[in-house]
Amino acid sequence: MQSMYTQQDEKRLYDQAKHLLTLPTGNEEQMIDQLREVINYADWKYYVQSEPVLADQEYDALFKLLKHKEDQFPELVTSDSPTQRIAKGISERFPTVSHLVPMLSLDNTYNAEDLTDWDRKCKELAEVDAIEYCVEPKYDGASISLIYENGALSRGATRGDGVMGEDVTTNIRQIKSLPLSATLVAKGVEQIEIRGEIVIHKNVFEAYNKQRVAEGLSPLANPRNAASGTLRILDPAEVRKRGLSAVLYHISDYTLAAGAQRPEGLDTHYGSLRWLYNMGFPTPVNEMKVFSRIDEVIAYCAAFEARRDSLPFEVDGLVIKVNNFVMQDKMGMTSHHPRWAVAYKFKARQATSKLLRVEFQVGRTGAITPVAKIEPVPIGGVTVSSVSLFNEDVVREKDVRIGDTVLVERAGDVIPYIVKPLTELRTGNEEEIKFPTNCPVCDSVLEKQPEEAAWRCINISCPVQVAERMIHYVSKDAMDIRNFGGANIQKFYEKGLLTDVPSIYHIDWETVRSLGGFGDKSITNMQQAIDQSKTQTLNRLIFGLGIRFVGETTAKTLANAVANIRELYDWDIEKLSTLEDIGPKVATSVVDFFNRHENREMIDKLDASGVNLINHHKGEEATTGALTGKTFLFTGTLSQFKRSDAEAMVEAKGGNILGGVSAKLNYLVVGEDAGSKLEKAKKLGTVNILTEQEFLDLMNTAE
Ligand code: IVH
Repeated sequence: MQSMYTQQDEKRLYDQAKHLLTLPTGNEEQMIDQLREVINYADWKYYVQSEPVLADQEYDALFKLLKHKEDQFPELVTSDSPTQRIAKGISERFPTVSHLVPMLSLDNTYNAEDLTDWDRKCKELAEVDAIEYCVEPKYDGASISLIYENGALSRGATRGDGVMGEDVTTNIRQIKSLPLSATLVAKGVEQIEIRGEIVIHKNVFEAYNKQRVAEGLSPLANPRNAASGTLRILDPAEVRKRGLSAVLYHISDYTLAAGAQRPEGLDTHYGSLRWLYNMGFPTPVNEMKVFSRIDEVIAYCAAFEARRDSLPFEVDGLVIKVNNFVMQDKMGMTSHHPRWAVAYKFKARQATSKLLRVEFQVGRTGAITPVAKIEPVPIGGVTVSSVSLFNEDVVREKDVRIGDTVLVERAGDVIPYIVKPLTELRTGNEEEIKFPTNCPVCDSVLEKQPEEAAWRCINISCPVQVAERMIHYVSKDAMDIRNFGGANIQKFYEKGLLTDVPSIYHIDWETVRSLGGFGDKSITNMQQAIDQSKTQTLNRLIFGLGIRFVGETTAKTLANAVANIRELYDWDIEKLSTLEDIGPKVATSVVDFFNRHENREMIDKLDASGVNLINHHKGEEATTGALTGKTFLFTGTLSQFKRSDAEAMVEAKGGNILGGVSAKLNYLVVGEDAGSKLEKAKKLGTVNILTEQEFLDLMNTAE
């Protein structure tokens, strides 16, 4: 069967991408078209096929070049250009719209017997002896309806009550796996309504939650809530950042142009999703199976359930659909669900249990977290006895009380959370959860900032905080000191062998030996791991310092901006805010951290112990080719490319364009008849002078 792109197409588009990265000149309109085609192809490879063809930087460079060209020629902007996913305005609210066809739900089955019954009923309704079934994952996200008119995405709506939904088109346009246009017109299709699910990759969800926690926010409960919540965010730029994906699994309606033939494949469910896939739509073709007998379906369901955790998305079951459309029509629908489809639900990852008491834990930053201790209950193969309640707002919002029977959910690999208390089971003896006024560890009075959800112990010498800071410092994503986990730190800290982060490098190993329980081998392993951490990269060190609101991503941004950590002592809020993704809240926290005498002292001690404070990568950039922090200036008449394109390309790769020749300039690119700028640069002697070709070579190696 023909695919979205032929092998030749793919090769051509890949070569075209590489060619565009070398800054060609020529017909602008043609180049804009080529850029769009290449970016759409790269999006499809990345989001639909999960096989990226371009490095992130290459993709960004092409995207910025297209943006730059469209800014120059606004009349050439089309509504389906990849740049138009980014909506500028912030919508005020979502208008209500009616669905072309009501969005029905699915009937559920839970075991082999239910499925055998369903198979029998299907055969009765269709008046046949054998039915071909199509089985596909039941994605746990937010359902949506998409309408494409004359080939272009014209509307995206949430399910709502099934008849009316919210028009979330602007947000839907942020989802890169959804094509903004498709070759539907050529296939004779005037209008089509497609159903699907908006989902968040588990790893995207985890990374997002990590960031939220680093920023002092409570994590979102599960990928499903995150997906449906994100669809309703009023700021499309924020929606874009959250990295939603889409999976389309049903064509609910289509209109053909007068005289057009029904496209081939639109006679079965499998054929219809293949047909969509071949046009670039994300459909689960690679996760679909067709069976001719229900016992095969049943065996597949059991096997699939066993590997549910290995899928990138949350899946809460499988959907079994009658493959043939004529048969589907004959079977029809109830007011609630189609009779030709059924969900096979996996074992619940929810359970009820009793909330026994609440403990208050002190975190690394002093935040107090209420943790519900519940009667141990197995959920999806794991016994759960402790569930975080995150903060006081969450407790109040859910109105959970001690003694309540609570519904607990564990979504995939995600931490368990309390969905709600079952208020109908209350006896009247339940007690309100009281928040402490003093730190449960050091007894300092707790404080709460008006805009924050968490109460905090602000005593930075609070023993738990000191220990937690060390545990964070050695953790896998920070300095990655293996064989030296929380238990050892706790023990050494209690024995006075550790006092603060720098003391990790001055442990009295003789005393450790005398403690018992540590053999020569384990001591050598710890010593080696501690020693190796001295050469860790600067971003890991910055993350490991545990600066509030500084997660792994922000730590990388900060590390990339300096050659030595001490440079950050002089950065003010304004300067920090020029860095990507650093807002005033993070900037303030960073400034506060580096202004504190005790933190500078800690950095001095780490330095004295031989811990790396330098961004080596930054020093090597000229040879490795990354342009971050590098400055460029173009002069003279350029013949091989346009100045503005070249400038856009430099910026896309992280470099800056300067207005004149100064000691700050790294590269001067000279065309013909270069004048005073070239003279000045020669005189300075510190500027690299490049011909156009040398510049192009540099750009090609800059990764
Ligand atoms: S078919 C008429 N297929 O599950 C078409 N639904 O519990 C009915 N869902 O509302 C839907 N994956 O949001 C279908 N592969 C899949 C699905 C799927 C997830 C959702 C959908 C539906 C809900 C019913």
